[in-house]
Amino acid sequence: MSHVTSRTQVAIIGAGPAGLLLSHLLAARGIDSVVLETRSQEYVGARIRAGILEQSSVDLLTDVGLGDRLAREGDQHRGIYLQFPHERHHLDFMDLIGRSVYVYGQTEVQKDLVEARAAAGQQWVYEISDTALHDLDTDRPSVTYTDADGNPQRLEADAIAGCDGSFGPSRSAIPGGTTWERTYPYSWFGILADVAPSTDELIYAWHPNGFALHSMRSETVSRLYLQVEPGTDPDSWSDDRIWDELATRLGHGQDGWELNPGPITDKSVLPMRSYVHAPMSHGRLFLAGDAAHIVPPTGAKGLNLAIADVALLAPALAELVGKGDARLADAYSDTALRRVWRCTHFSWWMTTMLHHNGDPFDAQLQLSQLRWVTSSKAGATGLAENYAGMPFEI
Ligand code: FAD
Ligand code: DHB
Repeated sequence: MSHVTSRTQVAIIGAGPAGLLLSHLLAARGIDSVVLETRSQEYVGARIRAGILEQSSVDLLTDVGLGDRLAREGDQHRGIYLQFPHERHHLDFMDLIGRSVYVYGQTEVQKDLVEARAAAGQQWVYEISDTALHDLDTDRPSVTYTDADGNPQRLEADAIAGCDGSFGPSRSAIPGGTTWERTYPYSWFGILADVAPSTDELIYAWHPNGFALHSMRSETVSRLYLQVEPGTDPDSWSDDRIWDELATRLGHGQDGWELNPGPITDKSVLPMRSYVHAPMSHGRLFLAGDAAHIVPPTGAKGLNLAIADVALLAPALAELVGKGDARLADAYSDTALRRVWRCTHFSWWMTTMLHHNGDPFDAQLQLSQLRWVTSSKAGATGLAENYAGMPFEI
């Protein structure tokens, strides 16, 4: 069967936050796009992932008309707690650097994006298969795929945005290049629970049994994580065991603080790894988000980095396909990678400071570093600048 051919200005592969936000930012500049996605819209919308937005992400979403529900339902946090045995310290980012973060789940960002793009009549095709990229070295690249009814399709474009996450085909369509990788020797066991958070702001806890994090999604939903061995089967832990271990690591009973358990509604184990692929572009293909880089979750950078990439990519593509000016597009990879490496370093630093690896020497270094970060204004300010997010130009 021959392909049915259609045409757009930018073909966007992947309808996660990077792909949908890019379509929104391009539309605001008068550029048409079509978004192609392997999964169903419901599946993409239901994936439980990130929960923290940096100030710059919130500012961008607000500036482009996606901030109404975020302003109503997002929860602004002044900072975080850092904890190690017998001590819990609050780092107040607002006092330190005048910037803050917001609790607003990726599921909610995704919902807002879908609603806005649907209202604008965005063209999107879900449940496709056999995605393949072609002619990237020409100014007429294309994507072929099979639609949900089994019909072969070809989408021609002026440029392709690879927003297809860490397992999509875009990254490997770039010939050569370099990938830097780090696999961490632990995983995170994440739970979602129908219980009010036991804390007003996130608690990142170092403990000899391993790292724990108390996060949240709303006044009635808590999100918590435990460092576990890679390959841990989430079903091998009973709910009681999970709550007991969280209570131990988060310091239940310490200075009268209590962890309130509740019904667990979701359990998953996430591997901890980092990679960066460079360059982030080749010919008329441009990568954004997890397609180009993954960071370990400590520090909550993955979603924010995807947003920062497309904030840079949208004007570059608009200049390229709208005006034939390639200067921003040519600079995109180098510019984006500066922020990618900053976030990769910060995520590595937080991960290394907070996870127990069984080495007693490393444990003493970690505790010393935690004491320094929580007692020195310089140490705390460095963490705050990175956690609340550098401005988009960096
Ligand atoms: P994605 O959200 O992965 O979207 C890519 C899309 O491309 C997907 O919908 C995929 O189905 C689609 N796709 C793939 N292949 C194809 C193809 N061949 N054709 C068409 N479409 C395709 N970050 C944090 O900051 N904090 C967290 O707690 C956190 N938890 C996470 C938990 C998990 C399980 C995962 C996987 C990630 C987590 N992250 C977290 C990272 C964060 O969610 C990602 O950085 C963010 O989703 C990146 O957005 P993206 O749009 O680049 O990629
Ligand atoms: C969450 C995830 C993170 O990786 C993090 O550092 C903070 C919060 C979360 O899912 O809420």
